[in-house]
Amino acid sequence: MIMKNMEDFKPAASFFFLTPFYDFLCELMGFGRSFKLKVIDLLSIKGFEKILDIGCGTGTLIIEVKKRYPNTEILGIDPDEEILKIAGKKLKKSKVSAKLIKAYAQALPFPDSTFDLAVSTLIFHHLKTDVKKKSIKEIYRVLKKRGRFLLIDFGQPKTLLSKILLKVGAFFEGKENMEANLKGKLPLFLEGAGFEIKKANLYFRGIQFLEARK
Ligand SMILES: C[S@@+](CC[C@H](N)C(=O)[O-])C[C@H]1O[C@@H](n2cnc3c(N)ncnc32)[C@H](O)[C@@H]1O
Repeated sequence: MIMKNMEDFKPAASFFFLTPFYDFLCELMGFGRSFKLKVIDLLSIKGFEKILDIGCGTGTLIIEVKKRYPNTEILGIDPDEEILKIAGKKLKKSKVSAKLIKAYAQALPFPDSTFDLAVSTLIFHHLKTDVKKKSIKEIYRVLKKRGRFLLIDFGQPKTLLSKILLKVGAFFEGKENMEANLKGKLPLFLEGAGFEIKKANLYFRGIQFLEARK
């Protein structure tokens, strides 16, 4: 089973044996709960949307969204069964109800025009270039007309520190997965799929916040 998964996708912390420690490592690198709270501020949720978290990992963002906006309906998808188990336990412990589905960003199991808002944090640097493009097309398809997609991931580095950090990251992630991110191509892929870019700010440790509208 694990061997099959290894061919399919890159796990959250680059190596399968590190999955149980993902939340700890995330906190250590500054991408944990406080980062997710910053992301929620930027999502501009009104409170009643149907939201899709793509590559939801351990479910931290889902839990915090539901705590702040209990009337939203939020679904998380991720291809990694092990991380979905961790997410399920965390949701139960936090008394948060949300659907978690094993699925890939490039083949979303939802009809056209299902969601008001889609969000992905830190997954695009795990995807090969053709998968990034397919995933963006799928996200466009499942969003309602005028729906928004927040793509939050490494962008073109602007400072020496982020250049160094991203070089180290590229070593673990594989050059091809990181290349389009580091060359600043994600906005072009969004536009290529039909999205209109609303905001593109570099704001935290080389992470770019891209807001696109269908
Ligand atoms: C670095 S983790 C980010 C998790 C979470 N979004 C966060 O910010 O903590 C990347 C996640 O993307 C998932 N992933 C990898 N390939 C994927 C794909 N093709 N479609 C959807 N998710 C994928 C991994 O299983 C992992 O949970």
